[in-house]
Amino acid sequence: MTEGNDCGVRGSVATGRYLVTGAFGYIGSLLVERLVELGSTVVAADLGLSDWRPQASPRITSVLADLRDPSCLDDLLPGVSGVVHLAAIVGDRACEINQELSWDTNYLGTVNVASACRRAGVRRLVFASSCSCYGRGQGGNADVDSPLWPTSLYAETKLRAEHHLLTIRSKEFQPCILRLATVHGASGRMRFDLAVNSMTSQAVLEGRVVVHGGQQWRPFLHVSDAVGAIISALSATPVSGPEIYNCGRENDNHQLAEVGRLVAAIVGDAVVTILPSPMDFRSYRVRFESMSTGLGYSCTHRLRDGIREVRDAVVDGRYGGCASAQYDNYQLTRRLIEGGGRGDSRVRQVSGCGNAEAGDPRRLSDVRGLDSANASDAASH
Ligand SMILES: NC(=O)c1ccc[n+]([C@@H]2O[C@H](COP(=O)([O-])OP(=O)(O)OC[C@H]3O[C@@H](n4cnc5c(N)ncnc54)[C@H](O)[C@@H]3O)[C@@H](O)[C@H]2O)c1
Repeated sequence: MTEGNDCGVRGSVATGRYLVTGAFGYIGSLLVERLVELGSTVVAADLGLSDWRPQASPRITSVLADLRDPSCLDDLLPGVSGVVHLAAIVGDRACEINQELSWDTNYLGTVNVASACRRAGVRRLVFASSCSCYGRGQGGNADVDSPLWPTSLYAETKLRAEHHLLTIRSKEFQPCILRLATVHGASGRMRFDLAVNSMTSQAVLEGRVVVHGGQQWRPFLHVSDAVGAIISALSATPVSGPEIYNCGRENDNHQLAEVGRLVAAIVGDAVVTILPSPMDFRSYRVRFESMSTGLGYSCTHRLRDGIREVRDAVVDGRYGGCASAQYDNYQLTRRLIEGGGRGDSRVRQVSGCGNAEAGDPRRLSDVRGLDSANASDAASH
């Protein structure tokens, strides 16, 4: 039990044993660290897209697992009191590389995780969805019941996964969906393909910040606050209706040009160039009150804190070459596909979690038509 700890989680946080999928990722690496600091033990499962791995610790069981294989989770769940499902092909560009891989991972992977939880009697599943689901916003600040206009395959896969979780929730299985804003800040497994982190490293290393378009609105969330919200959701008392929360900081809805100017001001000596055509047409502002009222969590870091943190990390050379493929999901996903057609080689690299060979990986083709909901159906939640 911890009061006002490093990740800003106030009040009691149940210590226990948790399964984190996508645990070797940007958010997962920090989440595992924080859960262990809180006294929990963690089963950290991941396909291992990047080369980052958790430090050896008696409280962490690290497992290379591919969630596209429905059998791989069963051996990981006994004794687990909650699951955080982060594993995904993350980002619009990465998801476009191979659509079937993206659906299999983001949608079917979520179906597999939810089914395994229900088989094992695990009641709480926290699912990392995205504010990207709001897509082309409607002008006002979007709330969880606002219409959803996903503009990318990535957002579509997240929406479908949300919809599946909502349709199977019951007294015995209580998923909590967190629509995370765009995350920033330093983490163990770093990402320099995210707006703020990318602009900041560019400002430090090249003395310039290039913004495409710049008028688009985007909400932001520090990675420590993403972790804090997730831990709060793990221990929050489930409510009777659907549990969907936007996670972000109320005052950190910004237009991208404004973010570029803030980065340049904080880094210093950087020139901002606004290019006329946006590469990314998403534009949405989001309301976050329900995060504090529903989850009891309030953000403790501002956008400027994340920029300073990333600036210092880049100046210190903490991550080496920021342009490395290790920090870029598009390049990592390409590497996965090139390593095995569409990544199938990794299905057999599952270790420590049962016999992957014996599993019959479910593919999108197996379930097309099973879940007939489309994005606008899901928008009603
Ligand atoms: N970072 C953000 O700005 C942001 C914003 C909104 C939502 N999210 C969501 O939060 C979650 C974590 O994001 P992140 O930024 O840490 O991304 P990340 O890419 O760093 O982490 C995702 C992890 O999932 C793993 N993975 C991919 N396919 C897998 C499979 N088949 N089986 C097991 N593991 C697999 C990867 O190896 C990777 O370590 C994702 O679900 C993402 O959609 C992130």
